[in-house]
Amino acid sequence: MAEKIPEDIKQDIERLVKELNYHCYRYYVLDSPVISDEEYDSLYVKLKGLEERYGHILSDSPTRRIGASPLDKFEKVKHKEPMLSLDNAFSFDDLMEFDRRVKRLLGSDEDIEYTVEPKYDGLAIEITYHNGLLYKASTRGDGYEGEDVTANIRTIRSVPLKIDEKGIPHEIDVRGEVYMDIDEFEKLNNEREQEGESLFANPRNAAAGSVRQLDSSITAKRRLHLACYGMGAVKGTDFRNQWKFIHWLEKHMFPIPVMVRRVRGIDKVIDVIKDIERKRRGFSFETDGAVIKVNDFDLQKSLGIKTREPRWAIAYKFPAHQGTTRINEISSSVGRTGVITPVAMLEPVRIGGVTVSRSTLHNWDEIERKDIRVGDYVIVERAGEVIPHVISVIKDRRTGKEKPFPIPDKCPVCGSRVIREKGEVAVRCIGLDCPAQVQERIRHFASRGAMDIEGLGEKNVELLYSEGMIRHFADIYRIKKEDILRLPRFAEKSAQNLMDAIEKSKHTTLSKFLYALGIPHVGEYAAKLLSRNFESMEDLYKIKPGKIMGIRQIGEKIALSVSSFFNDPENINTLEKLKESGLKLTNPDYENKGSRERLFEGFTFVITGTLPEPRNYVENMIEELGGMTSSSVSKHTDYLVVGEEPGSKLRKAQSLGVKTISYEELLGLIKHKRMPKNLKLQF
Ligand code: IVH
Repeated sequence: MAEKIPEDIKQDIERLVKELNYHCYRYYVLDSPVISDEEYDSLYVKLKGLEERYGHILSDSPTRRIGASPLDKFEKVKHKEPMLSLDNAFSFDDLMEFDRRVKRLLGSDEDIEYTVEPKYDGLAIEITYHNGLLYKASTRGDGYEGEDVTANIRTIRSVPLKIDEKGIPHEIDVRGEVYMDIDEFEKLNNEREQEGESLFANPRNAAAGSVRQLDSSITAKRRLHLACYGMGAVKGTDFRNQWKFIHWLEKHMFPIPVMVRRVRGIDKVIDVIKDIERKRRGFSFETDGAVIKVNDFDLQKSLGIKTREPRWAIAYKFPAHQGTTRINEISSSVGRTGVITPVAMLEPVRIGGVTVSRSTLHNWDEIERKDIRVGDYVIVERAGEVIPHVISVIKDRRTGKEKPFPIPDKCPVCGSRVIREKGEVAVRCIGLDCPAQVQERIRHFASRGAMDIEGLGEKNVELLYSEGMIRHFADIYRIKKEDILRLPRFAEKSAQNLMDAIEKSKHTTLSKFLYALGIPHVGEYAAKLLSRNFESMEDLYKIKPGKIMGIRQIGEKIALSVSSFFNDPENINTLEKLKESGLKLTNPDYENKGSRERLFEGFTFVITGTLPEPRNYVENMIEELGGMTSSSVSKHTDYLVVGEEPGSKLRKAQSLGVKTISYEELLGLIKHKRMPKNLKLQF
């Protein structure tokens, strides 16, 4: 039984809910958090404790975002106003034709005011608020009737559970697109590939698949976003135009598209579209066009609807980055967990300014579904930053000589048996000593986000392996310079560089090391969570799964995997040997770090180019001061530290408006303790 709730506790709960919702908004909508994840977590735990003890859970409490019990099926929801689709324009001529039609229908000679914004490639959703509270969320369905996905949509952190103000419309349907960022989509697919699960073809399918889950706790684990761009039925207010409505959304903490412009006249619309097209590479999500809407709602009403599409809006589609080419060969590559991936070797083709000569076919389900054969002509697409993929086969161009590519019965690398477990799409090589798997594990260990040993890429790992110098990643630390010097591709300088890189990698963080170990299911994120909760590697030795499962966001699968790794005497032996070779781990992520200076708390840094100090040294320094480091620039990045010969990250940072600083300026920030003061909370 919950205890009776004293008034001051009630107020504490209300304050905590408000505070946590505000931080969620800073993080997920504005991309500029003002407290660290740890601080957020500790407020969350405090709230959860009070809620459980007193049984008082507010309707907009963040603890309601974790997903509800699984459903048997989705209930149907009728849309009060139909959810329409959009007519497409494939050229600026089409757009001018659209503008002429609008003017003709309105009997107007004057330039029309339009809004222009990117078209998000996701899943359209309607969210109904009753008296300010999120009441129902539904998919578009056939436009008239969709599916009730309320529990799933509640788990998306950027979706407001409550509209917080007096005088809000007592009923409003907010519409928008649920989408997944490209990075997140690739991470999810990588994990699924390693798990032998079927892959999502693109971020849109991943978002749709994540929302249409009967078990909303699965949705809660996927990082989904929302961009709101429209409304359905509204009672109790009148917005007059799209621009005002978007500002109302923004004011009430709804996420809106990254760029929304209001311009008069179709020429200006075209300028904005060109601007979006220039910037789209820097967007974190996939966009295949722009949406143009007549701004004024009265004008929209008089233009009306033609069957299923409004006459007042149109979608401009960017020219697709597709090409036609031939599959010369299909080969199989074996990953570090033994999963065999078919890869199409293509007749090189230029697509959107880049030469494409290979494309992953993901798995044999995909090959079967698309009926892909060696020798086929195929349409290949390179959408945004996503790796190229085969869209379809041009069956009309078949000559009859094309050959299917069956599942191999043996591993193409080691000849071991190949298995396909029930319910999995992946085909795996079961040979533990399979050279491909061993080399992939070593390559993973040495890779950027892991031990970051420059010079130990695919080619050199293969060379050292074939020379019998490494059979396991622990062997890396036994390599001697004179042995490398004997190898064909090495000279004094390159050998020394590799030795230096190996030496440098011995000083790293616990989270990078845990990730490097390649423990099944432990990606970068899980490694970070573990490091926040365990001070040192030794604390994980002989760990029981239950102790790991207590960590928020870590489930049974990861817990069992980590526990079984650290209970294997052979693994412990390897770890101890690594320590003897000089491995030294720091753990800036650990939560009870005491009162060390946390100058960079809440700030994320990315480094590009060569700095005067080794990169991992600088990263450690940032993390020691409470900052986060990441290997790629996104809208979450606060500072890009620019060294000599910076790479493409600099361009990306500039297009996203991310601040750039030199290494000296970074040291200056530290020396003078000059960080923008964390903003005061405003309620
Ligand atoms: S407005 C009647 N704005 O595109 C106007 N739609 O092809 C309704 N979409 O069903 C939509 N980004 O799912 C609008 N900025 C945006 C959009 C957008 C993506 C989707 C939406 C719609 C589909 C139509």
